Amino acid sequence: MTDCQGEGIGPVTTMELYEKLTAQGDKVRSLKTAKADKADVDAAIQLLLKLKVDYKGVTGQDYQAGCPPSDMAVSNNRQLGNGGEEDTVDPWNVATNSAKGVDYDKLIVRFGSSKIDQELVDRIEKVSGQKPHHFLRRGIFFSHRDMHQVLDAYEKQKSFYLYTGRGPSSQAMHVGHLIPFVFTKWLQDVFNIPLVIQLTDDEKYLWKDLTLEDCHRFAEENAKDIIACGFDVNKTFIFSDLDYMGSSPEFYRNVVKIQKHVTFNQVKGIFGFSDSDCIGKISFPAIQAAPSFSNSFPQIFKGRKDVQCLIPCAIDQDPYFRMTRDVAPRIGYPKPALLHSTFFPALQGAQTKMSASDANSSIFLTDTPKQIKNKVNKHAFSGGKDTIEEHRQHGGNPDIDVSFMYLTFFMEDDEQLEKIRQDYTSGALLTGELKKMLIDTLQPMITAHQENRKNVTDEMVKQFMTPRPLDFNF
Ligand code: TYM
Repeated sequence: MTDCQGEGIGPVTTMELYEKLTAQGDKVRSLKTAKADKADVDAAIQLLLKLKVDYKGVTGQDYQAGCPPSDMAVSNNRQLGNGGEEDTVDPWNVATNSAKGVDYDKLIVRFGSSKIDQELVDRIEKVSGQKPHHFLRRGIFFSHRDMHQVLDAYEKQKSFYLYTGRGPSSQAMHVGHLIPFVFTKWLQDVFNIPLVIQLTDDEKYLWKDLTLEDCHRFAEENAKDIIACGFDVNKTFIFSDLDYMGSSPEFYRNVVKIQKHVTFNQVKGIFGFSDSDCIGKISFPAIQAAPSFSNSFPQIFKGRKDVQCLIPCAIDQDPYFRMTRDVAPRIGYPKPALLHSTFFPALQGAQTKMSASDANSSIFLTDTPKQIKNKVNKHAFSGGKDTIEEHRQHGGNPDIDVSFMYLTFFMEDDEQLEKIRQDYTSGALLTGELKKMLIDTLQPMITAHQENRKNVTDEMVKQFMTPRPLDFNF
């Protein structure tokens, strides 16, 4: 076998593409051995060459037989063979040319994750005994890594824990940030498992023009929004990196172990760091990786290093966990499993995600009912026609309509949502009416969140953020 691993770095591509290429190589060989028709051999060679070009396009490297890709995969942000259109998906940017949003099927191929198909949704229902959350039913959580393994173990009475997080870059979170937390709460309720939530105030200090004090304060403010989602204090530990890193020798030991097993080349490949990035950024991914290992929390897991971790997040965070999964077996830990969500789009359209750094793109959890109404009416991109007559005649396009997309996230009733889709498509429902339905859904939801948040006291935040045993026996 060729030495394709370099400094322990796998070639950069997706497993599916690699396997397809390998199978096509085998096919060409067997056709040649069988002295098949020249035309058949030529056609098989042509396909092989095309796959090799695709592979190089995705990985930036030549295909080498016998060198499968590692979890670390994906060197750049190019989509696979899609005629020059490029989707960017990384922890800092999400951008696509398509009004329908990122092509998530292609992203699964590129990132080498697996689709959450109906079989998995049914299995989650069977194992948890609960109707699947509408985020699962509607493909909002669409991709996973090793979820079957988590369920296999759970069925054999082997528990697991949840890990998710937030980078506290500002006082106010937006509605898109609720997606992973709402889903994490559902998972915690149906599986009855511990949850750790990392607030990366250190990350935001390193990346943004903010003081350490600001970042730490935002972490505590954001913790209030997270607690307002309804997490159980007896089952949940929320921590600020700036506080916990210094107080937990076990956590810091894991950070250092991870740092020793990832090279500068690797983080450059995964995150696009350049020589002029500060060294804090370069070493930060190890800090986001560490909570994936249960012995980072001895107070919860009694020093056990083998408790399986499951990470719900939007797919922008996957680069951190590809790195983590690559490192895990080399330092003697289980690989964390993942559940990935799609992005809650910006008001202006699904070409980009809702982002706190662009205030106009976002509906914040602090917005008043009036602000929500104005933002939706003024900014929410419409898939409707220019005039009422045209709309009545030809109908609107819900696939590119931001108000409809938002309703798929927050309207729980499947039948009602389907009726809206049909009525909008037929032209029976006008854009203004659709926007009103969205406003009527968002206003009470955000008001309720604000009420819940008001009831979160400083004392409660302190309780959640104190390292302590949780209500589980490990
Ligand atoms: P942050 O603060 O950018 O985002 C917090 C969580 O929200 C998800 N997210 C979104 N989901 C749907 N639609 C959107 N428009 C949207 N924008 C953000 C993110 O994927 C994330 O799950 N570095 C991380 C903090 C972190 C973390 C983690 C996140 C530390 N450890 C473990 C997830 C899992 C960050 O800055 O997230």
